[in-house]
Order: sequence, then structure tokens, then C-alpha cells
Amino acid sequence: MKKWGDRGDLKNLWYETPVGGMKGMKGWILSTLDRNVGRMTFTRTENSPFEDTQVLAEDYVPEEVLGRDHELDEISEVFQQIVDNEQPVNAFIYGISGTGKTVSIRFKRRELENALERYDDVHATFVYQNCESLSSSYQAAIAIANRFLEDPDYSFLREEISIERDVLPSSGLPKERVYDILFEILDALTYENTAYRQEMEGALAESDYDADLTAAHLLGDEPLPEGVDVDPDSVREHFESAHDILPPEEVTDYVTVILDEVDRIGTRDELLYEIPRSRTNNRVEDVLPSIIGISNDIGYKESIQSKTDSSLRLKEITFKKYDVDQLREILYQRAELAFKPEAYSEDIVPLASAYARKQGGDARYAIDLLQKAGMKAKKNEDDVVGEQHVRQAHEEKERDRVYEVTNDLSSQEQLVLAAVMFHDLREETPISRSDLYPTYKRFSGALLDNSNVPRRVADYLKEMSQLGLLERHDAYKGPGESGFEYDLDKADYQMVIQTLRDSDPTGPGENLLPEELIDTFSTLTDDDGDTQTSVDSF
Ligand SMILES: Nc1ncnc2c1ncn2[C@@H]1O[C@H](COP(=O)(O)OP(=O)(O)O)[C@@H](O)[C@H]1O
Ligand SMILES: [Mg+2]
Repeated sequence: MKKWGDRGDLKNLWYETPVGGMKGMKGWILSTLDRNVGRMTFTRTENSPFEDTQVLAEDYVPEEVLGRDHELDEISEVFQQIVDNEQPVNAFIYGISGTGKTVSIRFKRRELENALERYDDVHATFVYQNCESLSSSYQAAIAIANRFLEDPDYSFLREEISIERDVLPSSGLPKERVYDILFEILDALTYENTAYRQEMEGALAESDYDADLTAAHLLGDEPLPEGVDVDPDSVREHFESAHDILPPEEVTDYVTVILDEVDRIGTRDELLYEIPRSRTNNRVEDVLPSIIGISNDIGYKESIQSKTDSSLRLKEITFKKYDVDQLREILYQRAELAFKPEAYSEDIVPLASAYARKQGGDARYAIDLLQKAGMKAKKNEDDVVGEQHVRQAHEEKERDRVYEVTNDLSSQEQLVLAAVMFHDLREETPISRSDLYPTYKRFSGALLDNSNVPRRVADYLKEMSQLGLLERHDAYKGPGESGFEYDLDKADYQMVIQTLRDSDPTGPGENLLPEELIDTFSTLTDDDGDTQTSVDSF
């Protein structure tokens, strides 16, 4: 029989504080707190299965993006405009999480940048911003501006742009002011300000022409030093031809802003439209701007379409879910790089692919399973990463997901769940809504001061069944009568208790743990912390 505390992989917060009143549980909660005392030195793991953990990281760009030929071609079409030095196209990429949107853009961007080394008359700058933790265009604009203002490679911006501080404050500035600064920055991302200046400075430094002259003098940004009597333009021309430096007039500047996970900024998304129109609206004049929006939410499409017109030249690209073969291909490629040759069984690939396919064809999930499986093998000091590690990793991820779902339930729903658990402990499940209702009513009356009507409780039960927390059984109750009965499914005791304990419905220090539930639970837990058969599933 397992002790609860033996599950080292449980979330630490579970052990944070002993729960008052839960007599039997106290022992094991306390015993888990000092489990690691005395193990304070580290030694290198001898047989780590990993060859290179970098390739499992989220931002790794693989040598080859597999199974996305069509999508990659569509992105190429967008970038081809820049290669051809023609009017840029804006794009919007849709596809659920883990379909390779971000990696495909990174991959193509790298290809484009390599290709552009052959074409001197085009200078392209990419501005990548992930909007995951941003809730408006205003915040996105500040985030982009600050990244440039903080970057020493772009210190020239400080001279171009007049701002009072080193970076923009996260709030307080009027929106128009923030946008003005952003567009000033984008407009300054030119060949002339970057590569040209660097090369010209290098050429000037090498020459013995006149040590006091800088690129800024030659470009007319600063007056010539006193006593220097030359024609800056002819000096410039001299250096350009002597050092093979292309004059700025011959180079076209492109700035492509990539807003990833842009659905997170919701409806305050005007930046998406301001950027492609910024040239027409005279907000920029030296660069040709374009935008690539990436969204995990396919429903976002309608919102975009209703706000755009044909003048935007918007190309839509949709990323489909991966099928199981594509997931396998991706994983074979990744596993080979991530693990030492003898340290993993190839069987892990089909298994992880099958799990990931069930998650909606999510390659991120698949790669994460490989990573977690490897960590499990390493921790157990197993020689080979095998199917059992993938299975454990999947179960753990699934548990984390269910725990999150449970946490997101409303207080009333959580108490319905508590009521189901209460009856489950007493071996009275599956239970019907009408038998459950009085228990729920007692719990909610005591802890929330109000209870919902049976009809609402029926809705909660249905919803929690759809979420997989409860299992719904068809119950035959005699001729012409039927109904449903409920049982715990993916939600387990530990998870329910933790959720109830952590929720603070009426303020800090409060929780939603019904005393009756604790009492019933504690009587099933003996003093050593061992649980009896009915709670043996942890
Ligand atoms: N076709 C592919 N080939 C190789 N790796 C891929 C492929 N698609 C996705 N991945 C990997 O899966 C993970 C998730 O992909 P990502 O591009 O971030 O998905 P999205 O942006 O659509 O949510 C990343 O680690 C990425 O490298
Ligand atoms: Mg992404």
C-alpha cells in the first residue's frame, strides 16, 4: 500500500500547510515536509539518457519542419514579396495550439534571412512579439518599443526618438503617444541606421582621411567639425565605392512585425491594422511595413475579417492538426537528437504520438511527453527510456490538466463535486441528482450561505461530466422512467480536497472544505498516514 507522501511527483503546494482538523492526514503531511532534509549535495547523474535537452525546448528550431509542406509554401509566398523587392503582403495564420505555427514562421524567417544575404538591395527586419501575457494593443506596442529601447545594438534609437525615460512605463502614457513612439522606432529600423552606419564607421576608422569624421557627419545628422572643409556627399561616395558599401538610396527597407498568439489581446487589436496601414497614414515613411498575425483561436478569423478590407492584402493561412503519422515523424526526428542512441526504446514514439493525437494533434504535447519521460527514466536510474515512462508522463500531465479544470470551477460547482466525493467515500455512488442534492445543500448552506436550485445542480453535473471530472451513468428506474447517476471520474479525492482547501470564496483564510467531508475522510485514514482500501488509489 502506498503512502500519499510517496508520490514525489505530486505538486508541492499540496504539502504547503497541514490541514487543520484532518487528524489522520496530519502525520503524513508533516512527514512529507522534511523529506529532503540532509540531501543537500549534488552529484552529476551518471547515466542520463539525454544527449541534448536543448532540442526539447520550446524555442528550438529543428533542421527540418516536417509534415507542413503546404503551410510552409504559403509562408514562402508571403516572404517571396520581400525577396522580389515588391510590395509586402500581410498574413494571418490560424491553427490550434501545437500545430507548428511558431516553429514554421521561425524556420522560414531563418531561410529568408539567409537568402537575403544574396540580395543587397533589400534590408528586412523582423520584429517578433508574443502576446501571450498582453491584453491590449497598447501593451503590445509598449512591449515592442521597450525591447528595442533596451537593446544596446539599437542605442542609436535614443538619438532618433525623444523620450523622457530609458524605457516606456507600462501605463500612464496616452495611447497616441505610445503609438507615435512605436512607429518612430519601426521607421528607424533601416539599413542606413544599422548596417550602413556600421560599415561606414569601420571604413572611416581604417582610413587616415580625417579621424574626426563620423558617419553622422557624412549623413548630415551632425554639422561637420570646425575647420573641416569637405563636401560630405563626395566623401561618402568615395568611401562607398572604395569599401564596396551600398548607398542607402539603393536599398529598400522592410519591417515585418510578427504578433504571435495575438488572439490573447482580444478585441483591442487595432495594432494589427495600424501597422499595415502605417505607410499610407504617414506614420512611417522610410520603411515598408507588414504584419503577420498568429492565432491559436480559429474563431478569431471572423473578428479579423470584419475589420479588414481588401486594401490590406491579407493572406490567410490555416494550420491543420497533425495526424498520428506526422506526429511520429516529428518525434522520431526529435528523439534521435534528444536521447543517447542506446538510452531509449523507439516504442516510445508511437505511444507518445497516439497520446498527442488524442490531445488534438498537438506536437507540443508530444515533445513534452518525451522530455518528461526522459526525466522519469533519469530519476529512476533506468537505463532505457521506455513506454512505461511515457505512460507515467501522460498520466501526470493529464492529472495536472484535470487539477486546473477543477480549480476553475465556480464555488457552487466545487461543492457539488465535494458532495459526490462525500458519497463516494461512503460507497454510495453512482448517485442520482436527487439523492445528492440534500448533501450539496448542506455544504453550500454552511459554507456559502446560499444554495442553487436542483435544476442548476443538474447543469453543473452535466458540465462536470463533459469535462471528464465525473462519470455519468444511464440509470433505469422502472418502465418509462430513466435518469442519470454520477460517480467521480478523473477528479480524485486528493484533487478535490486540495481544490476546496485552496479556494477562498469569501476572503483569505476561508476555504470550501465541508467539515462533514473532512470527518468522513479522516475516519478512513489511519494514524500512520496509510489509507484504507477505499482510498488506495493515490
Ligand atoms: N512540423 C514540425 N516539425 C518539427 N517540430 C515541430 C513541428 N511542428 C511543431 N513542432 C514542435 O512542436 C512544438 C510546438 O510547435 P509550435 O510551433 O510552438 O506550435 P504552435 O505555435 O502552433 O502552438 C515546438 O517544440 C515545435 O518545435
Ligand atoms: Mg505558437
